[in-house]
Amino acid sequence: MYSEKVMDHFQNPRNMGEIENASGIGTVGNAKCGDIMRIYLDIDEDGIIRDVKFKTFGCGAAVATSSMATELVKGKTVQEAMEVTNKAVMEALDGLPPVKVHCSLLAEEAIHAALWDYAEKNGIHIEGLEKPKSDIHEGEEQEEEEY
Ligand code: FES
Repeated sequence: MYSEKVMDHFQNPRNMGEIENASGIGTVGNAKCGDIMRIYLDIDEDGIIRDVKFKTFGCGAAVATSSMATELVKGKTVQEAMEVTNKAVMEALDGLPPVKVHCSLLAEEAIHAALWDYAEKNGIHIEGLEKPKSDIHEGEEQEEEEY
Protein backbone atom coordinates (compact mmCIF):
# COMPACT_ATOMS: atom_id res chain seq x y z
CA MET A 1 0.00 0.00 0.00
CA TYR A 2 2.91 2.35 0.66
CA SER A 3 5.80 2.86 -1.72
CA GLU A 4 9.31 1.95 -0.64
CA LYS A 5 10.19 5.64 -0.49
CA VAL A 6 7.33 6.36 1.89
CA MET A 7 8.43 3.49 4.13
CA ASP A 8 12.04 4.68 4.00
CA HIS A 9 11.18 8.27 4.94
CA PHE A 10 8.81 7.06 7.65
CA GLN A 11 11.40 4.73 9.17
CA ASN A 12 14.40 7.03 8.69
CA PRO A 13 12.98 10.55 8.68
CA ARG A 14 15.39 13.24 7.42
CA ASN A 15 15.72 16.59 9.16
CA MET A 16 13.74 15.72 12.26
CA GLY A 17 14.15 18.11 15.16
CA GLU A 18 14.05 21.83 15.72
CA ILE A 19 16.15 24.91 14.96
CA GLU A 20 16.93 27.40 17.67
CA ASN A 21 16.32 31.00 16.64
CA ALA A 22 14.75 29.84 13.39
CA SER A 23 14.07 32.46 10.70
CA GLY A 24 10.55 31.15 10.37
CA ILE A 25 8.37 28.62 12.18
CA GLY A 26 5.08 27.27 10.94
CA THR A 27 2.64 25.03 12.74
CA VAL A 28 -0.46 23.58 11.20
CA GLY A 29 -2.87 20.91 12.26
CA ASN A 30 -5.77 18.98 10.92
CA ALA A 31 -8.57 18.93 13.46
CA LYS A 32 -10.16 15.97 11.75
CA CYS A 33 -7.34 13.49 12.34
CA GLY A 34 -5.71 15.48 15.15
CA ASP A 35 -2.28 15.52 13.53
CA ILE A 36 0.06 18.48 13.93
CA MET A 37 3.18 19.44 12.01
CA ARG A 38 5.77 22.11 12.74
CA ILE A 39 8.46 23.30 10.33
CA TYR A 40 11.53 25.36 11.24
CA LEU A 41 13.43 27.26 8.55
CA ASP A 42 16.87 28.79 8.75
CA ILE A 43 17.13 31.31 5.92
CA ASP A 44 20.26 33.30 5.12
CA GLU A 45 20.48 36.94 4.02
CA ASP A 46 20.22 35.93 0.36
CA GLY A 47 16.89 34.21 0.97
CA ILE A 48 18.36 30.71 0.70
CA ILE A 49 17.03 28.00 2.99
CA ARG A 50 20.20 26.91 4.77
CA ASP A 51 18.55 24.42 7.06
CA VAL A 52 15.13 23.04 7.77
CA LYS A 53 13.79 20.78 10.48
CA PHE A 54 10.41 19.36 11.31
CA LYS A 55 8.43 17.91 14.14
CA THR A 56 5.34 15.93 13.37
CA PHE A 57 2.85 14.56 15.81
CA GLY A 58 0.99 12.49 13.34
CA CYS A 59 0.56 9.46 11.20
CA GLY A 60 3.27 7.67 9.23
CA ALA A 61 2.37 9.40 5.99
CA ALA A 62 2.62 12.78 7.71
CA VAL A 63 6.12 11.88 8.94
CA ALA A 64 7.17 10.66 5.48
CA THR A 65 5.78 13.74 3.71
CA SER A 66 7.39 16.14 6.18
CA SER A 67 10.68 14.35 5.76
CA MET A 68 10.50 14.52 1.96
CA ALA A 69 9.24 18.12 1.98
CA THR A 70 12.21 19.24 4.10
CA GLU A 71 14.59 17.48 1.70
CA LEU A 72 12.97 19.26 -1.23
CA VAL A 73 13.19 22.79 0.20
CA LYS A 74 16.70 22.52 1.65
CA GLY A 75 19.17 24.70 -0.25
CA LYS A 76 16.41 26.36 -2.27
CA THR A 77 15.43 30.01 -2.36
CA VAL A 78 12.19 30.97 -0.64
CA GLN A 79 10.63 31.47 -4.06
CA GLU A 80 11.68 27.98 -5.19
CA ALA A 81 10.32 26.57 -1.92
CA MET A 82 6.90 27.85 -2.98
CA GLU A 83 7.00 25.25 -5.76
CA VAL A 84 7.22 22.41 -3.28
CA THR A 85 3.53 21.61 -3.34
CA ASN A 86 1.91 18.57 -1.83
CA LYS A 87 1.75 17.16 -5.35
CA ALA A 88 5.51 17.55 -5.75
CA VAL A 89 6.06 15.88 -2.39
CA MET A 90 3.76 13.00 -3.30
CA GLU A 91 5.48 12.54 -6.64
CA ALA A 92 8.87 12.46 -4.95
CA LEU A 93 7.53 9.72 -2.67
CA ASP A 94 6.15 7.70 -5.60
CA GLY A 95 2.61 8.39 -4.53
CA LEU A 96 0.38 8.04 -1.49
CA PRO A 97 -2.85 6.12 -1.04
CA PRO A 98 -5.85 8.42 -1.67
CA VAL A 99 -6.93 8.48 1.98
CA LYS A 100 -3.48 9.81 2.88
CA VAL A 101 -3.37 12.73 0.47
CA HIS A 102 -4.43 15.17 3.19
CA CYS A 103 -1.29 14.25 5.14
CA SER A 104 0.85 15.70 2.34
CA LEU A 105 -1.22 18.88 2.43
CA LEU A 106 -0.15 19.32 6.02
CA ALA A 107 3.50 19.40 4.87
CA GLU A 108 2.83 22.02 2.18
CA GLU A 109 0.84 24.21 4.56
CA ALA A 110 3.44 23.93 7.32
CA ILE A 111 6.15 25.13 4.92
CA HIS A 112 3.94 27.99 3.79
CA ALA A 113 3.23 28.91 7.41
CA ALA A 114 6.97 28.97 8.19
CA LEU A 115 7.64 31.10 5.08
CA TRP A 116 4.84 33.43 6.12
CA ASP A 117 6.37 33.80 9.57
CA TYR A 118 9.77 34.56 8.00
CA ALA A 119 8.25 37.10 5.58
CA GLU A 120 6.36 38.86 8.37
CA LYS A 121 9.42 39.04 10.61
CA ASN A 122 11.49 40.54 7.80
CA GLY A 123 8.82 42.72 6.24
CA ILE A 124 9.13 41.06 2.86
CA HIS A 125 6.63 39.79 0.36
CA ILE A 126 6.87 36.29 -1.09
CA GLU A 127 5.06 36.08 -4.36
CA GLY A 128 2.14 33.68 -4.39
CA LEU A 129 2.19 33.15 -0.63
CA GLU A 130 -1.14 33.50 1.11
CA LYS A 131 -1.78 33.68 4.79
CA PRO A 132 -1.78 30.05 5.85
CA LYS A 133 -4.57 28.36 7.73
CA SER A 134 -3.70 26.93 11.09
CA ASP A 135 -6.10 24.06 10.51
CA ILE A 136 -6.08 22.55 7.04
CA HIS A 137 -9.41 20.92 7.72
CA GLU A 138 -11.06 24.38 7.79
CA GLY A 139 -13.37 24.91 4.88
CA GLU A 140 -13.25 21.27 3.78
CA GLU A 141 -16.35 19.14 3.75
CA GLN A 142 -18.47 21.89 5.20
CA GLU A 143 -21.71 19.96 4.89
CA GLU A 144 -20.43 17.44 7.43
CA GLU A 145 -19.85 20.15 9.94
CA GLU A 146 -23.24 21.77 9.78
CA TYR A 147 -25.03 20.06 12.56
FE1 FES B 1 -3.82 13.08 9.48
FE2 FES B 1 -2.09 11.65 8.24
S1 FES B 1 -3.92 10.94 9.14
S2 FES B 1 -1.94 13.72 8.73
